[in-house]
Amino acid sequence: MSIKNASAFSAAIKHPLAALAFKLGNKAAMHDALILDSAKYLWGNDTDITGWKNALDELKNNDLIAPNENKHQTIVGNNLNTTFGKWIYCCIRVTKPETVIETGVAHGYSSWIILNALKKNNKGVLYSIDLPNHDTNIDYNFKDQPTTGWMVPDVLKDRWKLHLGDAKILLPTLLKEIGELSIFFHDSDHSYEHMKYEFETSHPFLMNGGLLLSDDVHKNSAFAEHVEHNKLKALQFNKGGAAIIRK
Ligand SMILES: C[S@@+](CC[C@H](N)C(=O)[O-])C[C@H]1O[C@@H](n2cnc3c(N)ncnc32)[C@H](O)[C@@H]1O
Repeated sequence: MSIKNASAFSAAIKHPLAALAFKLGNKAAMHDALILDSAKYLWGNDTDITGWKNALDELKNNDLIAPNENKHQTIVGNNLNTTFGKWIYCCIRVTKPETVIETGVAHGYSSWIILNALKKNNKGVLYSIDLPNHDTNIDYNFKDQPTTGWMVPDVLKDRWKLHLGDAKILLPTLLKEIGELSIFFHDSDHSYEHMKYEFETSHPFLMNGGLLLSDDVHKNSAFAEHVEHNKLKALQFNKGGAAIIRK
């Protein structure tokens, strides 16, 4: 099964006004269009998109618990100015997962997004794994202070279990502990071998109807091969990939 292209460029003909606004620097309308189209693609054309629209409204109204701030730190990571950052939030709000694993935390941008959505759901736990200061991009690393996931405020931490160590070692143990997984989100080491390892290790634990999310799927063929091998329905935004698990 091929991966649907869900980039702004590919949607320009279907959404010409959003494409024009996007070109002029206002990306919100195109983000919304891509997210709603993607929900329909993965869950079927007759899926109710009210929940998706409501989640997008929450983002528009900035109806979120604010992250911790640190003026001295360059912050990188999945954020809410990108389709994929918004997509992660909407997926959590709409599917209301019990268990989410994320590999790769760094400053905690994606953790903060996920935890905000879980808080609103009043349900679910995020298990995050990071091997601190282990990114090839220096902006993701820091010396001693601040610490991994520093952006996440205390008020969001009751649904967060942060594990520090190599995903190659921690992931299998964590999966066995959790048993059934609703969403797996890869954003750690983007080498072909490591991505393949994380996808193959988490796949047997993902529930029917669960989601595989991955950042940086454009870097190698690991996501594409995994989707093909398991015959998953999948799409790719700019760098982020998403596949629905059917068992
Ligand atoms: C791209 S950053 C994560 C960004 C974060 N998900 C976000 O959106 O804000 C990648 C992180 O993966 C971590 N990492 C790299 N190799 C790892 C491994 N083998 N196990 C666990 N974490 C790893 C790095 O320390 C880094 O913090």
